[in-house]
Amino acid sequence: MAAGKPPVIQIRRVTKSYGHGDATVHALRGPSAPDGSPLGVSLDIEEGDFVAVMGSSGSGKSTLMNILGCLDVPTAGRYLLDGIDVGHLDEGQLSLVRNRKIGFVFQSFNLVPRTTALAQVELPLAYAGVRAAERRRRALAALSLVGLGERAGHKPNQLSGGQQQRVAVARALVTSPAMLLADEPTGNLDSHSTEEVLGIIDRLNASGRTVVMITHEDEVARHAKRVIRLVDGAIISDVRQAEVDGPPPALAVEVGV
Ligand SMILES: Nc1ncnc2c1ncn2[C@@H]1O[C@H](COP(=O)(O)OP(=O)(O)O)[C@@H](O)[C@H]1O
Ligand SMILES: [Mg+2]
Repeated sequence: MAAGKPPVIQIRRVTKSYGHGDATVHALRGPSAPDGSPLGVSLDIEEGDFVAVMGSSGSGKSTLMNILGCLDVPTAGRYLLDGIDVGHLDEGQLSLVRNRKIGFVFQSFNLVPRTTALAQVELPLAYAGVRAAERRRRALAALSLVGLGERAGHKPNQLSGGQQQRVAVARALVTSPAMLLADEPTGNLDSHSTEEVLGIIDRLNASGRTVVMITHEDEVARHAKRVIRLVDGAIISDVRQAEVDGPPPALAVEVGV
């Protein structure tokens, strides 16, 4: 960890419940107090870490991701993102935080149809008010970073699944977000494209970007430096596989560290 730097994510006793009374579902609850009430989930994520969140269907992964991504707010508890208490922000401020601090990658790519890779990657910069020439320069740089500099003019239907997901990764990182948030990013990819996309995420993390990734697959989680498992809305294990400061495990093998 960089000396003196606060964690990029600080979650304190966060709960999320849906419904009321007997029908209440505690999607995030953490451990239970002696009287059975939920104590909430607490979690710190350091800058530069690469965290995989695992758990079976219904364990609360998407609920946690939505809160981390400021797409939803906790029922109780505090969330500080990059030092900002997001509980105090209104919807307009939250959308600014999403745009500036978080890069999203989804299982289904979520690209805009009939739109070139370059235009897709420029989009978040347009929302952020970056001028056209600078947008183009930065979008091209991001596409080059994911190995698609030559494909800038291609539309989604002219790209393979793996290439489409790389466009989505370029779009996620073009704003230099504090964190890359990925929900099953390789869930729709064949094994070759999976390795390609994970290789890019490995390198992004090696160059200092914080990554939080939901995955079902052990093979994918092996790329992470830290693996958190959820059961019934609580963290039941939290295992460090590699140091925050060092390279992610898959790259460490390659360079023989
Ligand atoms: N909008 C909602 N309304 C009611 N219950 C929900 C809602 N979203 C999620 N849940 C419930 O919360 C629990 C956790 O869901 P979720 O976070 O989607 O799990 P996962 O992503 O691990 O499959 C599940 O029991 C789910 O049915
Ligand atoms: Mg889910």
